[in-house]
Amino acid sequence: MTTHNKAQTNLIHAPRQAPQYIETIQPPLFRASTIIFKSTAHLFDRHWSDAYDYSYGTHGTPTTFTLGDNIAQIEGGRYCLLAPSGLSAINLVNSALLSSGDEVWVADNIYGPNLEHLNNLQDRYGITVEIYNPIDANSFQPTEKAKLIWLEAAGSVTLEFPDLKNLVKKAQQANVLTALDNTWGAGLAFNAFDFSDEHLAVDITVHALTKYPSGGGDILMGSVVTHEQALHHKLFRMHAIQGISISGDDAAQIQRSLAHMSLRYEQQAQSALTLLDWLKQQPQFTQVLHPSDPDAAGHSFWSEICSTGKSAGLVSVIFKPEYDLNAVRKFCDSLNLFKLGFSWGGPVSLVMLYDLKQMRALENTHLQQGLLVRFCIGLEHPEDLIQDIQNGLKQLD
Ligand SMILES: Cc1ncc(COP(=O)(O)O)c(C=O)c1O
Repeated sequence: MTTHNKAQTNLIHAPRQAPQYIETIQPPLFRASTIIFKSTAHLFDRHWSDAYDYSYGTHGTPTTFTLGDNIAQIEGGRYCLLAPSGLSAINLVNSALLSSGDEVWVADNIYGPNLEHLNNLQDRYGITVEIYNPIDANSFQPTEKAKLIWLEAAGSVTLEFPDLKNLVKKAQQANVLTALDNTWGAGLAFNAFDFSDEHLAVDITVHALTKYPSGGGDILMGSVVTHEQALHHKLFRMHAIQGISISGDDAAQIQRSLAHMSLRYEQQAQSALTLLDWLKQQPQFTQVLHPSDPDAAGHSFWSEICSTGKSAGLVSVIFKPEYDLNAVRKFCDSLNLFKLGFSWGGPVSLVMLYDLKQMRALENTHLQQGLLVRFCIGLEHPEDLIQDIQNGLKQLD
């Protein structure tokens, strides 16, 4: 017979609760797949639609619910679901709300992978994908099959601010649900659940928490926020069925970064405005894109919706046509502080090169011909960033 080693069992069943009276700046971190029920009564009395259903890790823990509640509050909504990336949050909305035969509308400047996902649904399930021009609400012509319209304010590459009020108004009249990719505004530039005195609001916001809420360029996460309980439950069911869940460690990291998110957002936005002024004076560009610029497409919509004058830290330029792909690549490769990479909202400034010809379905008159470079402003001093771009432009002389 083996010796009975009590230490092994005792170690496993050692007290695991922190004393209840301890208060810390950051909330405690819960990591869980299993959540232990106090009794069979607790097991059988629970219901999936309870706001805080502590039954299994995929449903949530105090750590994930705390983050979700904070995100809902920042965005002006009531309910929040968390997903492992911004794109998976987008996909949750599409798969929960669209069925075979439905029609979905997307802006011509939509975040590319969302359109890719919808095109995939179109091919497999007969969902019709229609494209509208975000600055022309008349181009949105829903039929009776229309179920959902995707909005993005501002579009994350070409930065047009859409005619949000009229698009939402038209959607409401046609009984079409509105989902806004709120990553650019981050819940700070405007309240998507209350546009103004007209009581206009979107139904759903999706936010790539990967950007400003994370703030570190190192964590992926997304959220889906709603105001109406029935709609939340519909999304919640799909969230549960698909087993969408996030790590407690990641949630705690983002929760920690929320404390300084608005300070970072404003600093990055301010630096982007400094760059905007300088970029507009450079002869190599045919267009500089930022919604606060009076020449920008959708500028008046931005002024009305973002009435406090807020904007994110993104600014794009279109090179004059004489700068070919080799020249613009040379420019991007020669930058030192700006790193070549996707995403935004972190401490390090990023640059990305796009070919507009491959990104647009509709004819548009507000964008010039040429290669587009997007600058995502980090937390470096704006004068250093200007110097970096100036050095890069010298390579083209
Ligand atoms: C506007 C916008 N929405 C959604 C996403 C997707 O977020 P994630 O990278 O977390 O999947 C991105 C990512 O670049 C984005 O720019």
